[in-house]
Amino acid sequence: MLSDPAKTWNQRFAQDEFLFGTAPNGWLRDHAGVWRANERVLCVADGEGRNSVWLAGCGYTVDAFDIAEMGVAKARRFAADKKVTVNFSVADCDTFEWPQAAYDGVAAIFVQFADPAVRERLFANIVSCLKPGGTLILQGYTPKQLEYRTGGPSILSHLYTKELLRKSFAELDIQVLREYEADVQEGNGHRGRSALVGLVARRR
Ligand SMILES: C[S@@+](CC[C@H](N)C(=O)[O-])C[C@H]1O[C@@H](n2cnc3c(N)ncnc32)[C@H](O)[C@@H]1O
Repeated sequence: MLSDPAKTWNQRFAQDEFLFGTAPNGWLRDHAGVWRANERVLCVADGEGRNSVWLAGCGYTVDAFDIAEMGVAKARRFAADKKVTVNFSVADCDTFEWPQAAYDGVAAIFVQFADPAVRERLFANIVSCLKPGGTLILQGYTPKQLEYRTGGPSILSHLYTKELLRKSFAELDIQVLREYEADVQEGNGHRGRSALVGLVARRR
């Protein structure tokens, strides 16, 4: 884990350019149809807002948080430019006030800042903030990404396997769980051949 994640991510987000671009993540875009218009969705560690702003534009009611205030400030400006409303907050995933059984959806896209201990708490909070019937959409990198180095952390224990996700989300009904490779073009932060895993899972 980074010793001062807020500082590091604030520096990464300090440039005018969007580090991961302004288009939504492809896995999220391809699966967001599981949520119905106006449903309430939480974007976890939303960065500069590419996913939350797109979801708000699709008609969802969106909350989003991130530890980096520079990222959230950029996301607020991006939402204003796009004339959409997102309820943003600056928060660490361990101190965010997770409401219980409140969301129809959670988007957790590249939240691999979390080491195994933080991840265990983060995933438990994601499950408990979903309403019964609510759906999680998650994307991350697999260990093979250490060979590509085109984005994501270079720490093996932060990466996901299908087995890890199956175990972590045993309380959810897994609807899609896919390991795959793709050429990702998400700003300068995620660029090139990538080893990915995507999950769609529903709370019982
Ligand atoms: C790889 S970026 C992904 C951002 C966004 N989900 C996206 O797909 O564009 C990881 C994000 O995690 C945030 N982050 C890092 N540590 C965090 C923590 N402890 N709590 C909340 N957010 C954190 C960073 O600020 C950064 O925005």
